[in-house]
Amino acid sequence: MQPIIEIQNLTKTYDDGFQALKGVDLSIDKSEIFALLGPNGAGKTTLISIVCGIVNATGGSVTIAGHDIVRDYRKTRSMIGLVPQELTTDAFETVWATVTFSRGLFGKSKDPAHIEKVLRQLSLWDKKDNKIMTLSGGMKRRVLIAKALSHEPQVLFLDEPTAGVDVELRKDMWEVVRGLRDSGVTIILTTHYIEEAEMMADRIGVIRGGEIILVEDKKALMQKLGQKQLRVYLQEKQKSVPEKLVTAHGLELSEDGYSLIYSYDVHGARTGITGLLADLNEAGIRFKDIDTSERSLEDIFVTLVRDVEKS
Ligand SMILES: Nc1ncnc2c1ncn2[C@@H]1O[C@H](COP(=O)(O)OP(=O)(O)O)[C@@H](O)[C@H]1O
Ligand SMILES: [Mg+2]
Repeated sequence: MQPIIEIQNLTKTYDDGFQALKGVDLSIDKSEIFALLGPNGAGKTTLISIVCGIVNATGGSVTIAGHDIVRDYRKTRSMIGLVPQELTTDAFETVWATVTFSRGLFGKSKDPAHIEKVLRQLSLWDKKDNKIMTLSGGMKRRVLIAKALSHEPQVLFLDEPTAGVDVELRKDMWEVVRGLRDSGVTIILTTHYIEEAEMMADRIGVIRGGEIILVEDKKALMQKLGQKQLRVYLQEKQKSVPEKLVTAHGLELSEDGYSLIYSYDVHGARTGITGLLADLNEAGIRFKDIDTSERSLEDIFVTLVRDVEKS
């Protein structure tokens, strides 16, 4: 499938010399929900702002449906809707007026039928004549989404859509976003909530310190979640794992050299533990204890972030 967004070797150094993006490569497929997961300060908003033409890149390129975001700025900008991280709305305007106005900003001709469709889709139709300041926080967020969809974009960016939103509203928002994806909109959302990425995304990218450190199918990631780790505590410190054990069992040595780590699939027919222990015995590696633990996306995330910090 032809990706709808292609980002190549994108860098950003702010005026104060801070390097917020260090060569990001990423492609986004049509009609997927892509979650960009990363801690605060990782570069999520910077990346989105560049793609949306709000911030200039220092190097690299971005195309949207084949159009360059710099050369074809007007074209690409009209293909994108952005719901920014910071909430700002015109408190005294009605829902209808503010969403209609947003469409006009993109030079699109009036289309009340489209505005109605968007408001209905976001369950805002019966609030269309209300002033925005009278709406609840969750409704205000929806108005921002409606504004971002007013000009019929193919791609919708949601920057931290549920930051500071309570759990109930967060679930509502997830429903809304899935509905939009089903209607054919490609969605890129940023989040620092692991649970959100887990619940929402078709694919997950992890960003840390201006670098994308992992991009994977959510399902594949979940499969890794189905993995358990067996830790074998050794009697004597090892410098390395015998090659034969690495090949046969994918064994890894812990950092301190005092334990071996074996990963296996909980759902598999056989765990391979019996064979592993026999092979350890044969190799003359003596151990004093073993334990097992399950991996969660949280673990994977924490491990990745730690590894990047070390390097
Ligand atoms: N205008 C700016 N000038 C200098 N540094 C900035 C500017 N905007 C963001 N940064 C820095 O760039 C890094 C990434 O910020 P941001 O993209 O907002 O991260 P995130 O959205 O992942 O929290 C942060 O360290 C932030 O302080
Ligand atoms: Mg941000």
